[in-house]
Amino acid sequence: MEGLTHPAFRALMAERGGIGVVCTEFVRITRAPVSLKLLRRHVGKPAGMPLSVQVMGNDLDNMAEATELVTAAGADVVDINLGCPAPKAVRKGVGSALLRDRALLGRLVTVMRERTHLPLSAKIRAGFDDASAVVDIARTVQDAGADFITVHPRRRTDFYRGVADWRIIERLQRALTIPVVGNGDAWYAADALRMRAETGCVAVMVGRPALRNPWIFLQIEALQGAGEPLRPSGRDLVAHLDELARRCGEAFSERGVLGQLKEALVYLGRAVPPGELREGVRAILREATVEAVLEASARRIGSLDAAQLDLAAEGGALESSGRVDQLRDIA
Ligand SMILES: Cc1cc2nc3c(=O)[nH]c(=O)nc-3n(C[C@H](O)[C@H](O)[C@H](O)COP(=O)(O)O)c2cc1C
Repeated sequence: MEGLTHPAFRALMAERGGIGVVCTEFVRITRAPVSLKLLRRHVGKPAGMPLSVQVMGNDLDNMAEATELVTAAGADVVDINLGCPAPKAVRKGVGSALLRDRALLGRLVTVMRERTHLPLSAKIRAGFDDASAVVDIARTVQDAGADFITVHPRRRTDFYRGVADWRIIERLQRALTIPVVGNGDAWYAADALRMRAETGCVAVMVGRPALRNPWIFLQIEALQGAGEPLRPSGRDLVAHLDELARRCGEAFSERGVLGQLKEALVYLGRAVPPGELREGVRAILREATVEAVLEASARRIGSLDAAQLDLAAEGGALESSGRVDQLRDIA
């Protein structure tokens, strides 16, 4: 995820466990010469963990070259971004804009296929402004040689509004011969299992929910039979922030670390009940230094009980209070 799932964060999550593959944010490939230095920076690979590197662009030659360079740099999967909804991406005809141009999309995947022996995948949305062509889009990707496809079943025009329509994951799973990875709104560990059961997808990609609950992958693993799922407490949240700050400190400036901590807190804060405690998280976000953020976090959320946090693997009582519907609108 752009700006958030940098190598330091990926390494932290990979070491914690429960993950099969980690993914980079998109690497923008323009018409300018492809920068090997930029690509190498993204191919920061946690030890022992397969890495999928995502490229986003629409220039056939440069996307093909980027595929070859990413392969040589040590990626395990090459992925093309066909889902970015940002107005800037759409204006440039990349990301989700390509969902409207199946001919170009097919050619892009074809030239990328020719330049890598690695698994090649595409990350799509349900469509640009209409989901009726999603099977045709996915078949175009499949016929051009992709090995699997990941779908976030919202249209570009939805951005992050509403609810991911998991029925689309199931529709693709039935229509395609290549494996389908489901994505979208698996806010609790139990949701990931439910997505697999309801749609038949081979795997689940988890984005924002892992920022809200960085233990979600471990919980998913536990629900699959590896033991009792962890129920994180305020102390765990604070330890996570400390560790994130330490690791980011090796890669970012003080200002960069502060930005990362605040981004993390925005998501983690949504596990804190609304009202006074959530206000406390807002107060932490007003702190101006890394040290002050960590100190205020320890003071304001460090003593919260696991039962006060909406981080149970199964979802639990807070789910029925309508919080899940609010969560679905988080971008
Ligand atoms: C801040 C942010 C950055 C994102 N960056 C990327 C990206 O670089 N590449 C990508 O394929 N998806 C990106 N996404 C989309 C997510 O990967 C995912 O498809 C979407 O959030 C729905 O899944 P989730 O409910 O598990 O988060 C981003 C989403 C957010 C909120």
